[in-house]
This record gives sequence, structure tokens and C-alpha cells, in this order.
Amino acid sequence: MDKVITIERHFLEQQKQHPEATGVLTSILYDIALAGKIISRETTRAALEDILGLTGRINVQGEEVAKLDQYANAAIVRLNQYTGRLAVMASEEVNGIIPIPDEFAVGRYVLLFDPLDGSSNIDYSVSIGSIFSVLRRTSPEGTPGTEEDCLQRGRNITAAGYILYGPSTMMVYSAGNGVHGFTLDQTVGEFLLTHPNIRIPRKAKFYSVNQGYERYWAREIQEYTQHLQHLDLKLRYIGSLVSDFHRNLLGGGVFYYPADSRDPSVPHGKLRLLYECNPLAFLAEHAGGAATDGQQPILDLVPADLHQRTPLFIGNKELVELAGDYLRGEQALGMFERIREVTV
Ligand code: AHG
Ligand code: MN
Ligand code: MN
Repeated sequence: MDKVITIERHFLEQQKQHPEATGVLTSILYDIALAGKIISRETTRAALEDILGLTGRINVQGEEVAKLDQYANAAIVRLNQYTGRLAVMASEEVNGIIPIPDEFAVGRYVLLFDPLDGSSNIDYSVSIGSIFSVLRRTSPEGTPGTEEDCLQRGRNITAAGYILYGPSTMMVYSAGNGVHGFTLDQTVGEFLLTHPNIRIPRKAKFYSVNQGYERYWAREIQEYTQHLQHLDLKLRYIGSLVSDFHRNLLGGGVFYYPADSRDPSVPHGKLRLLYECNPLAFLAEHAGGAATDGQQPILDLVPADLHQRTPLFIGNKELVELAGDYLRGEQALGMFERIREVTV
């Protein structure tokens, strides 16, 4: 039992390394872990409780809202709005910012989240997850949080992570001091440390992309993909970003969702900067990997809109940089040698 480290103990030990810490961030992370446990329970019981399927509503992204999307969104808001720790929240499922109701105190932090990622997979019992990031507010303390508080560069993130609802439920997070993974022990109802100090393996195994869209890609992306195939990487694509990212984080590889010409109303790919790309980019960098939009690091992008989308290349540094080389025209098919050395 000596060796069992609960998520709470881990948070507290991390906090001790920062004498200036007040414990508020620790409490927010614990609140998120609790929301994750509740959503996890609901995802496993969904088929039994008639909450699979769609609500019939279309969200701000123009996508169909699953009942579990709505449930997860409400659970995260409900568990975080009354604590006095947050100034404002924003969610993939909600059009504007989510203010703290007047009856509750406002705090110093901002919570951005994708309540349920990969929700088109829900009805097929395929792994899905929740993704979050926590930032300090930029507006004056004691006043209501603002949209500007949410529109910060990913570089300003204080902590980020995800909860994965797969064969086991896992929480993976970083507060800037390593990336750590916990597995939910359902029998005691607690996350236990199972993956301390995760580093992306240098030797890549996987590439992950929706190759069904190949004909809508720029030639550079098609060639980059052929290059990855020449490296004998295995193609793995679940269609839940959080699950695809998790596999590549542990096994080594690259995930990308490039811009494509499939839907002219969405020219920058599908993934959302604030709710999906920034938190995972923060984790990737802290695990020794990288994340770009093909040109610049994701964490340096300045958001102009709460629901802004961006192309994403994320995972092993060399493979992410290789995508940039192709997009800048600095790499052409046939020049495989440099990258082969580091990956195979
Ligand atoms: P969400 O369920 O939060 O809307 O996100 C779905 C995203 C992401 O999880 C995944 O990588 C991507 O959609 C898959 O898109 P395609 O079906 O276009 O491949
Ligand atoms: Mn998502
Ligand atoms: Mn979602």
C-alpha cells in the first residue's frame, strides 16, 4: 500500500515544490478529476440509461450534439461554477463564455474544455475523453471574467490534461512539471498514479490521420504521408483525438489533422485551438514532443475567436518538424534518409 499514490497525494506533493502556491490550482485539478469520474460512470452506463444517441440539437460548430456531450458539459460546469476558484469558463459546446453565476464568488482562474471529445464514437462504445486547460485570468480580480481571459495563447496555460474513457479510465495532466498519468481504480473510486513522468518515445511507431480525406489534401500533405509510410509506421486512427493522442504519447508517433478542401466553410481543418489543440500541445511539449499548425508552434497562436479552428501536427518532434519541412517546400519525396535515422 506504501507504493499507492493517489491523485490527491500527487497534487499535494507537486504543490509542495511551489511554496508560493495557495492550493487553488490543486483544488481545481481535483474538481476536474471528480467531474471525470462522474462522466466516466455515465459513459459506461449510457446504453443502460438511454443516454446514447443525439439530442437533435446542432452546436456552435455546426455539429450534432450527442446526449452525452450535453451531460458532460453540464457536469463540468456544475462542479466548477460554485467553488470561487474560477473567473470564467468556456466550452466547445457553448457559444459564448460561461460566466460564474452572481450567487457565487469569482476566482483567479479560467477553465477551457472539450467536455466530450470523439463524441461521434459514443454510440459504438469506442474510447472518448474530456480535454481541459487552466489559465490565470488577465482581467482584474474580483470582477466577472471576460472573453479576453479565455482568448489567451496556449503558452500562458498553467495546467492542462485529459480524462480518457477507454477500457480503463485515465487522467493525464501536466502543471508544467512533467506529464503524469493516473488510472481510475473503480473499486475505490480514485485515480492512482500509474504513469509518472511520461516522455514520448523517440522511436515512433504510429502515424494517425483520417486518410479517407487524402484527395482533399494539399500535395505537400500527400507527400508527407507517403514519407511516413516509407518509414514503415503503422497507421492507427480512432477518430477521437484524445485517444489517438494518448496512444501516440505512450507508443510514439504523430497525429495530424491538416487543412483540407473538403468543406470550404472550414478551411483550417476541424480541430479547435482552445479546447483541443492547446491543451494537448502543452502536454506534448512537456513530454518532449511538439505541436504545430504546420508553421508555428500551436502554443504561440493568438486566438481571435473562442471557437477558432487550426490545422494540427502533434507528437514526435522529428515527425512534426518533417511536416513543416514539407509544407515549406524544404523536403521532397525521396529525401528519406535524415528522418529514417531517428525513427527506425
Ligand atoms: P468532438 O467529438 O469533440 O467534436 O471532436 C471530434 C474530433 C476529434 O476527436 C477527432 O480527431 C476528429 O473529430 C475526427 O474527425 P473526422 O471524423 O473528420 O476524422
Ligand atoms: Mn473534440
Ligand atoms: Mn466535443
